[in-house]
Amino acid sequence: MRKVSFYGLGSVFLFAFTSFSNLSFGANAGQSVNSPTSPDKQGILLVAFGSSHPEAQKSFVNIERLVKARFPGIPVRWAFTSAMIRKKLKSRGENVNSVTEALDKMRKDGFTQVAIQSFHIVAGSEYHELINEAAPFRSGQAFRQLTVGQPLLESYQDLTRFIDCLIADLPSKRSSEDAVVLMGHGNRHGNCDLVYVATAAELLRRDPRIFLGTVEGFPDFNTMRSELLKSGAKKAYLMPLMLVAGEHALNDLSGADDDSWKSQLKKDGIEGIPVLKGLGEYDNMANLFIDHLQSALKP
Ligand code: CO
Repeated sequence: MRKVSFYGLGSVFLFAFTSFSNLSFGANAGQSVNSPTSPDKQGILLVAFGSSHPEAQKSFVNIERLVKARFPGIPVRWAFTSAMIRKKLKSRGENVNSVTEALDKMRKDGFTQVAIQSFHIVAGSEYHELINEAAPFRSGQAFRQLTVGQPLLESYQDLTRFIDCLIADLPSKRSSEDAVVLMGHGNRHGNCDLVYVATAAELLRRDPRIFLGTVEGFPDFNTMRSELLKSGAKKAYLMPLMLVAGEHALNDLSGADDDSWKSQLKKDGIEGIPVLKGLGEYDNMANLFIDHLQSALKP
């Protein structure tokens, strides 16, 4: 029996409304290379936006270590959703597959059950791109089973667990007077803004000095900043709410340019102390994603 299921209401909705304009490779993806009697072969595909910063590798390395420790013996592969990042890496001789390429290779390599895990924070445009690319492989011919684990923040329980981990991992030097400023990515796609608005509200409910802004969505920097100013905090730990400490963390959050969050807060009289670690570098955070993968492996 071939079973194809996708985790998360978001994905279910998406499949219902996907136009399948990408059927050209769908036809190819659906071709069976594994006979119905071929033995079961389970595989894991980890999917992130990607990064070309060497610093960001720490996060990917840590995640892979934890995944292999939790699921010993199951082969682990990676794909990046960002075409721009893949192109940049390719120019340096490093090849990272797209979701389509990775799944096609797994099919050819005889995998019969594949669990994909999204390492996106919220089900925004990149996550939906992942679902779109995986869709042609769900035809039931490519794999006996294809599942997708949800991104970090998909339920209220996810949010609660995320905030527990965040609070536990805050710098020990932080006093209750000091603020924490989180930089999320955000985008205007789907429910993305709503998730960040809810996250910002819940953070403040748990600790009135933890603030969240996003680079490309809402709450934006100025919305976050006005809340921060009201608190009267003079010091703020600046942390990326992103899988890796890459371009946005190094430049937009903590860079020397006038328009970085650190520089702008300095003008407000707030000393920003960057904590440049991606979520994937914290074991507890990485494990939240890996719990979703566990559900995808045993649907
Ligand atoms: Co960006």
